[in-house]
Amino acid sequence: MAPETLARRPVTAGTPVLSLYRLLDPDVLADPYPLYQALRAQDPVHWDPYLHCWVVTSYAEVVKVLTKFSADRTPSPAQLDAMGMGALDPIAQVMVKQMLFLDGAAHTRLRGLCSAAFTSRRVDGLKQHIQEIADGLLDRVLSRGHMDLIAEFASPFPAIVTAGLLGVPTEDHAQLKSWSADFAEMLGNFQHNPERAGRVLRTVEEMTGYFRAAVREQARRPREGLIHALMTAEIDGARLSEDEVIANVIVTMVGGQETTTNLIGNGVLTLLRQPDRLAQLRDDPTIVSSAVEELLRYESPSQHTGRIVPDDCELGGKQLRKRDAVMAVMAAANRDPARFPDPDRLDLLRTDNRHVAFGWAAHFCFGAPLARIEGQIAFTTLLRRLRNVALQPDQLVWRENLGLRGLKALPISFTAEPDAAGSNAA
Ligand code: HEM
Repeated sequence: MAPETLARRPVTAGTPVLSLYRLLDPDVLADPYPLYQALRAQDPVHWDPYLHCWVVTSYAEVVKVLTKFSADRTPSPAQLDAMGMGALDPIAQVMVKQMLFLDGAAHTRLRGLCSAAFTSRRVDGLKQHIQEIADGLLDRVLSRGHMDLIAEFASPFPAIVTAGLLGVPTEDHAQLKSWSADFAEMLGNFQHNPERAGRVLRTVEEMTGYFRAAVREQARRPREGLIHALMTAEIDGARLSEDEVIANVIVTMVGGQETTTNLIGNGVLTLLRQPDRLAQLRDDPTIVSSAVEELLRYESPSQHTGRIVPDDCELGGKQLRKRDAVMAVMAAANRDPARFPDPDRLDLLRTDNRHVAFGWAAHFCFGAPLARIEGQIAFTTLLRRLRNVALQPDQLVWRENLGLRGLKALPISFTAEPDAAGSNAA
């Protein structure tokens, strides 16, 4: 949950030009980089009076925030009650047990147990399976010559991978996707929307019920996957409680889907807008791993995250007070000219590309190895099997998720590459 919630209202002429609140304007949401550039150049550690928080946009300061500040930013159920928002308690009950919102020993314990269940050997072992999923999705649309890349590829692809990873039936992937999108709406937005709060409450109730049933079922009949691995993971005799397993399966599921969908959707859009770069990647797929890093930097799927100032301190020449809220804008840091030469240029061969798209330090994305493999397989498979890919003329609509940047739909036309059979093809 973002540090401050605000009633939804239109961006007016009176909105300060540097406010992140301007992301509510569809034109700014479609291209937030000029706003980020202005913030970074004029006031990289900026007090945003609309959001009542510090907005940090320079690379060096974003890294400091992610390294030193507290991730414990979710209001506890008691705090929500005090704010008259007690109806949101069930959401807070789940979030306060998620590693993303914990510091210190509590975070280390959870992350240690989860990473014991999420080894790179396991991720490597999924490669062939992930390739088959990508090919299977394209087999369905190839003869048609057009598709909505989001609905028919970028959404179901990580959802099917995630179902397998968690150890729940693959046929539930559409349900997992819909729950993730609802939950991510809340994670990515700082403006309060009562209608959305009701939907997220229902989602949390349904997801919690679904995963509780899966945990109990798997206690009787173990099934390979993260759920069972978390149920049995043990370090120095420490185990996760049932509620902790459920809360962290949810954060892994949501983290693994929304962002990966947006990596693929935003990445394909970026390449379609820069046909030379698209041709470069198609002609030499061996550059895909650096291409994915550059696409993550250039159009970061997770644009910002929240933190709390742990103690009075100075940052970028500003005096911050203990418990002030901070938004670290990774997408702005990733275009900081002080760190990345010619930052608005897409350079698929960029070296020294230590972007912050996966965060930094203690909370550095837990699923980065999997996300990278999914991205690499998605781009190489799409470019290998589709030719003459073109954007259909429909207007692009961005999701109203200010933090998890992605398109609602990406209609494309193409011809099938006759020599590029998928792994499922006869
Ligand atoms: C392109 C894809 C992805 C992007 C851009 C991304 C981005 C991020 C970022 C920025 C953070 C740190 C947030 C913060 O510090 O507040 C994070 C954390 C996390 N991500 Fe990802 N992520 C991606 C894919 C995944 C995948 C595939 C999974 C799991 C299967 C995953 C699971 C997590 C989890 C569990 C955390 C919390 C780690 C912690 O708190 O210690 N993410 N991710």
